[in-house]
Amino acid sequence: MQKLIIINGPNLNLLGKREPNIYGSLTFTEFYKTIKEKYTDVSLEYFQSNIEGELIDKLQEVGFGYDGIILNAAAYTHTSIGIGDAIKAIETPVIEVHISNTFSREEFRHQSYVSPNARGVILGFGLQSYELAIQSFIN
Ligand code: DQA
Repeated sequence: MQKLIIINGPNLNLLGKREPNIYGSLTFTEFYKTIKEKYTDVSLEYFQSNIEGELIDKLQEVGFGYDGIILNAAAYTHTSIGIGDAIKAIETPVIEVHISNTFSREEFRHQSYVSPNARGVILGFGLQSYELAIQSFIN
């Protein structure tokens, strides 16, 4: 069974309450419950942190043993050379996801330190972005 992990960055713990016009009104806990029930052929875990170093620690921890990482580094996507370097350093493939279409938003969201090191990028499909990433590992 493939071992996958979703890693969410800063402010994504506020999904459901945070700018629902952009990010929707479902909490990640509710969404995670539905995907856990739906994708029973994979072992799926979830980690969230608002702290850059904790995200790097988690990438290092899972990055040599897991089969796939689904990473929404949120705002750190656009700023963190450290997260970019961590993705380069590990062996597990990373799929970058975003809920919103970052290219239709402010210019500073067009830059990503994750994309050059990711296997692929899925963005703009709401929470479905995460599901598409899971499906790509299953396929
Ligand atoms: C986000 C997009 C980022 O620009 C933003 O900072 C987030 C969420 C998304 O999933 O759409 O926090 O990663």
